Amino acid sequence: MSEVLSESPIYPPKENVKPISQISSLDEYKNLYNFSINHPEEFWAEQAKRLTWFHPWENVLDDDFSEADVAWFSGGKLNVSHNCIDRHLKDKAEKIALIWETDEPGEAKTYTYSQLKHEVCRIANVLKASGVKKGDCVCLYMPMMPELVFSMLACARIGAIHSVVFAGFSAESLRDRIIDCGCKVIVTANESKRGGRCYPLKNIVDKAIQGLTLVEKVFVAKRTLTEIEMQPGRDLWLHEEVQKERRSCPAEWMSSEDPLFILYTSGSTGKPKGLMHTQAGYLLYASMTFEYVFNYHPKDIYFCAADIGWITGHTYLVYGPLSVGATTVLFESTPLYPDPGRYWEVIEKHKVNIFYTSPTAIRAVARFGKDYPAKYDLSSLRVLGSVGEPINPEAWKWFYETIGRGECTLVDTWWQTETGGIMITPLPGVTDMKPGSATLPFFGVNPCLVDDNGLELTENNTNGNLCIKKPWPGMARSIYGDHQRYVETYFTQYPGLYFTGDGCKRDEDGFYWISGRIDDVINVSGHRLGTAEIESSLTSNPLVAEAAVIGIPHQIKGMGICAFIVPSVEASSFSVDEISGTIKQQLRNDIGAFALPDQLQIVKGLPKTRSGKIMRRILRQIAIGEHEDLGNLSTLAEPNVVDDLIKQLKTR
Ligand code: WTA
Repeated sequence: MSEVLSESPIYPPKENVKPISQISSLDEYKNLYNFSINHPEEFWAEQAKRLTWFHPWENVLDDDFSEADVAWFSGGKLNVSHNCIDRHLKDKAEKIALIWETDEPGEAKTYTYSQLKHEVCRIANVLKASGVKKGDCVCLYMPMMPELVFSMLACARIGAIHSVVFAGFSAESLRDRIIDCGCKVIVTANESKRGGRCYPLKNIVDKAIQGLTLVEKVFVAKRTLTEIEMQPGRDLWLHEEVQKERRSCPAEWMSSEDPLFILYTSGSTGKPKGLMHTQAGYLLYASMTFEYVFNYHPKDIYFCAADIGWITGHTYLVYGPLSVGATTVLFESTPLYPDPGRYWEVIEKHKVNIFYTSPTAIRAVARFGKDYPAKYDLSSLRVLGSVGEPINPEAWKWFYETIGRGECTLVDTWWQTETGGIMITPLPGVTDMKPGSATLPFFGVNPCLVDDNGLELTENNTNGNLCIKKPWPGMARSIYGDHQRYVETYFTQYPGLYFTGDGCKRDEDGFYWISGRIDDVINVSGHRLGTAEIESSLTSNPLVAEAAVIGIPHQIKGMGICAFIVPSVEASSFSVDEISGTIKQQLRNDIGAFALPDQLQIVKGLPKTRSGKIMRRILRQIAIGEHEDLGNLSTLAEPNVVDDLIKQLKTR
């Protein structure tokens, strides 16, 4: 990273966005930034005018940050779906809200704001009729289809909390999430379609809720023509139910701090956590960051390629764009289907102006060279965005030059499920771009670097643990049902600060360079996985005695999974292929196919300290072939294990 720092080229802000920039110069950014930090209440009170309130708020901020007890705009009443739909109907009823680009390239389906309202209200009425009330949690396990967006907004409309579960998760993971937030109602689809293949979503739901009396209703959207089994009394076709309902539904008055949604994410320990976001602060932050970071203007066509199953899809495919009345593209397919030109085809076809994706996706298409992008007219693009993992300078440059033709602003946006919205990012027309750096904090965001003892590193040119000092409106308020865990996970490591889990450098210009997770979280293709979560699945298999999982660099995915397992006595009658096949199946069942290891090493023993702690540092070094100097091994219980490991891996 230090080489990158000293050699990093600087790309000055683009002129073509300047006339239409929300902020026109670095000085203006600095002034407003300083104001937002020194006078947060005044700053956010002014910004809160972006939202439509049913009843005005009383206090901008009540907080006890160190206890993670934070309330924004208390006393206020509003409705998120009203803010994302109804308030646009006066002058944008016929504007396209959603463009659905289906898996098979063909005719895209569009929905105007007025149609969006009807679709959302009918689903809201279906949910209400099935007994869903304000404060109930509804699980959405769906493909990237419009009914997913409608269902999220339908929940928001009636005050229900949605919990979207990424459709790549297994039945077991889905079951855990349904139980954790007590969902009585699930919305799913018969199948999902991706990359020319169909996946049996409803079957997975059936498995997930087998024997669960908690679940009363399963609504099934019809994505394909495939027949499925419907359990009478429990399962209903969504398209049949909406036919019975009215196209209007009153928007519930919600308090600013009522929950809006739960989204599960992995951490270093234990089961995935259901992070809870609330109404007003989240929406305000989503809305403002969307407009400023992407230099959004009312005629723009905006395309975020993220899956709605993750936070990027929540904030920047649905809530941010719809809150400002934008046209947002919902993309069902993959960057490689039917060929690696798919993104560019979509951009040409819809004349996309703003395109937001991940480094993994960029690397996946960059492998195929410049021929695919060259076939399409990409001149509509003005702003490109990257999120989810550190972007390596090569991928940055490819994106900037090949896709942006050197004429677009590229915003490398750092944020997390927990932060609700973008926290560190360039602003188009304002900030210098340095490939690999997320650059400077957004308004109201107060980052700091601390050393391992929690001492703040105030100088530039330093490396430390990235923390946030003050509350911001988009922050998650809790872990659903376990506030203590929220406090312990994020607010106790460095008292008084929110700890992000990321390592970071601040360079001589005060620019932030996120280097990645320093806890036991692996970011695989931008999907967050806890090593503990994978290990617990591995060790639950009778063929496995011990397991250790580490992240290793991966050319396309950013990080890959390397799993070391020590077979159990029972495994002695199985071949290596049989063991690894069983283990992979176990991971597929427990988590999902995206948790399969890139390297599975079946070994005799793991390096441990005398107190039994696995020394992951050593495993990491061995896995990447840097075992010449393994540093201090004196704390190892059995130093021979290391030699055996090296020998074993070398002979493969
Ligand atoms: C990583 C995704 C470097 C980081 C919105 C963070 C990044 C985790 C960037 C959150 C970036 C996200 N540069 N690293 N621009 N953006 N990350 O919760 O490690 O899925 O902690 O949220 O992704 O992942 P999550």
